[in-house]
Order: sequence, then C-alpha cells, then structure tokens
Amino acid sequence: LARRPAAEVVAALTALAEKVSGCRECKLCTTRNLTVFASGDSQARLMLVGEGPGAEEDKQGLPFVGAAGELLNKILAAIGLARDEVYVANIVKCRPPGNRDPEPDEVVACRGFLERQIDLVQPRVLVVLGRIAAHTLLGNDTPISKMRGKWYEIRGLPAMVTFHPAALLRNPALKRSV
Ligand code: URA
Repeated sequence: LARRPAAEVVAALTALAEKVSGCRECKLCTTRNLTVFASGDSQARLMLVGEGPGAEEDKQGLPFVGAAGELLNKILAAIGLARDEVYVANIVKCRPPGNRDPEPDEVVACRGFLERQIDLVQPRVLVVLGRIAAHTLLGNDTPISKMRGKWYEIRGLPAMVTFHPAALLRNPALKRSV
C-alpha cells in the first residue's frame, strides 16, 4: 500500500476516531466511560499495538496512561524515542470490565478499526505488545514466549512481537529481553 499524504491520513483517522467514539458494535460500549482510539504521531515510523484500555485509559480516553504506560515510556526512552514520536493503539477500543481479556466477539467487532489504523499510518515497523494482540493480529495460538523477538508480517508490514509492559510489571525478569 502506498502511503497517503499526511493531511489525508490525519483527516481519515479523525473521521475514524469519531466513528469509534459512537460505536455500539459490542457489549463493551455499555460499560465504557471513554473510547480509547490512539495517541501519538500518525506519521510515525513505529506503531505499537496493545490489548485494550484499563481503568486510567478509560478515564482519560488515551492509551497506555496507567502504570503499564509509564513503563512503556521508559522502554521507549531507552531507545531514544519520546512517546509522542510513536503511534499507539489497541486491539479493542473500550475497556473490558475489571480488565478481563477481551472476548472473541469483542475482538471481532473492533478489529476493523485497528486494521484501518495500520493501513493509514503505514509505519515502517509494528510492535505487537503481548499475547492478546499477537494472537489477534497473527491468527495463531503460539505461546508469547515462543513468538517474542521474532519478525512476522502484518498487513504487509514487518512486525515484531514482544511482552506486554504489564507482564514486565508482574515479572521484572522479562524486562531485559524486551
Ligand atoms: N493500556 C492500554 O492502552 N493498552 C494496554 O494493552 C494496556 C494498558
């Protein structure tokens, strides 16, 4: 896919975010506070994909603004990147109650939005954070420990899988490999 002019990409993403904000395609719309579309630079060379909003994200309407987000910021800083230089989105745009895993029907209802985000942003590299995002985007059931650190292809783009920052908070020994 050829990348569209920046202004067109911004306009298309703005329209898509608007659509997401009123989405009622799955039951998560009944418990959410705010939808969480994305953050960062839509011209970024690096796009990160997480799982879905937690409590703080649901409050602020922004991805990775809780504890996992703070760690993510440090990980990016360690490779010389500021958070606003990368584009960040999630598999599901609404918080699953109690931070449970998103259910298959919710993932199916939401995945078109993420696919459109990927196709519009056209990053040089996608980084897939954690098991849920990896299984959704790669359509497999492989343990994350087997997938991490390897290159895959998602929508024609090079994609690397790694552990989710929340997993690193639970198990700091995994930090080095990320
Ligand atoms: N915050 C997000 O936006 N996504 C996650 O996967 C975790 C925390």
